Amino acid sequence: MKFHKTVRHGMIATATETRAGDIGIIDGRIAAVADRLPAGSEDIDASGLLVLPGGIDSHCHVEQISSNGLMTADDFYSATVSAAYGGTTTIIPFAAQHRGMSLLKVVADYHACAAPKAVIDYAFHLIVSDPDEQALEHDLPNLIAQGYTSFKVYMTYDMLKLDDYQILDVLELARRLGALVMVHAENNDMIKWIAKRLLANGHTAPRFHAVSHDPLAESEATSRVIQLSRLLDTPVLIVHVSGIGAVAAIRAAQVLGAPVYGETCPQYLFLAASDMDKPGLDGAMFCCSPPPRDAQSQQAVWEGLANGTFQVYSSDHAPYRFDESGKLPKGEQTTFKDMANGVPGLELRLPLLFSEGVGKDRLSLNQFVALTATNHARIYGLEHRKGTIAVGQDADIALWDPERKTTITAAAIHDNVGYTPYEGRTITGWPVTVLSRGRTVVHEGKLLVERGSGMFIARRSPGPFRIERKVSDRFKLFSSLIGRPSP
Ligand code: URP
Ligand code: ZN
Ligand code: ZN
Repeated sequence: MKFHKTVRHGMIATATETRAGDIGIIDGRIAAVADRLPAGSEDIDASGLLVLPGGIDSHCHVEQISSNGLMTADDFYSATVSAAYGGTTTIIPFAAQHRGMSLLKVVADYHACAAPKAVIDYAFHLIVSDPDEQALEHDLPNLIAQGYTSFKVYMTYDMLKLDDYQILDVLELARRLGALVMVHAENNDMIKWIAKRLLANGHTAPRFHAVSHDPLAESEATSRVIQLSRLLDTPVLIVHVSGIGAVAAIRAAQVLGAPVYGETCPQYLFLAASDMDKPGLDGAMFCCSPPPRDAQSQQAVWEGLANGTFQVYSSDHAPYRFDESGKLPKGEQTTFKDMANGVPGLELRLPLLFSEGVGKDRLSLNQFVALTATNHARIYGLEHRKGTIAVGQDADIALWDPERKTTITAAAIHDNVGYTPYEGRTITGWPVTVLSRGRTVVHEGKLLVERGSGMFIARRSPGPFRIERKVSDRFKLFSSLIGRPSP
């Protein structure tokens, strides 16, 4: 057979094996993987390169308005270009419902933003902030059936948070219809209580953001939502885990056999609370929620990546410029409570982990692939197309030069943020060529595709619902009493 494109002489790695070999591509899909293949119509020489599945970033915020009304700096063009330059070929941002909005309209609006701009493929999670009867009985069941099979709920932020009763409603629906609930787990009242007292005492600087988001607020909410999920025997995924206490709570639940999954992000490995302690308002560039912590928590997060506590490593790219539009809405008078929360990370997510994880023997290359691509596809229902290098999969491939040294500068990054929290670091390893459905998106620093050439991908039921799970006796009794069948 004649291949449209071949990638030959590289070292191919998946989540389970590393082998020398060639890849043949026809119509954007992988048609063959073998020791040797004849050159296709276009042939890419991958000698000396690692050939990895393109990354999947399952947590990023694009063209999203924050709970305090601030629009992200990136649209679907700049975000997807930036992702592609960093070796990511699929993103799953959020279609975010604010209270009072129809979920169906929210999803339609995000599609209208993404379709003309995205250069790589995308799906959407939902953010559910208003689980009323319309949402629970009509809109969510409809949307799940159409491939929006995961949604995020918040335990903090006054304008987004759900109470425990509402979270139980959402978990019950997710269990019944096979959707995955992602949780932002921080105790809202603890944070508010501390913040009010800090501000009253004149402690307004960015570093007080970390003080108000005490690690106990994270570990309390994490433990609480784990109990809610166990009550209903329903899988839950705790997003952007930062502190040692939350890591321990997730691990403990997993040891008990509870279907609890975890996500962490670059900022919890490579940044610390001390980064927020900069002159003036500069520390705002490092403020996100939960905030970066200390060396002990960084170590716990590294261990959680290596020992399987975390299944996914995402960016939580929440891009805001260091000006009135994002980080400094009140100029010099901005307090830690006014600024938009979030740090950029779409482009550097993979290079940072490759350099400091694989390059420093904290993670194997196969773990890197699992944490950055394969597990995202499995957990979020994309594995019919994405996440590995195998016949039948979309040809989403990143060719990495494992030796290339890069000194990070904001000027070289393709997002629209204008700064990077990782400025000046030198890392080793970079994705030099990136393919999406066989199209060469980036090659040696050049973008080669048109805006709008990315595609929406409808997702299937998330992986945790396709794994045979033991249903507890408590849940069997419980469901017989409340009339819901146990699966
Ligand atoms: O600070 C962050 N992470 N902002 C983005 C919104 C969120 O909660 O993920
Ligand atoms: Zn969050
Ligand atoms: Zn987020």
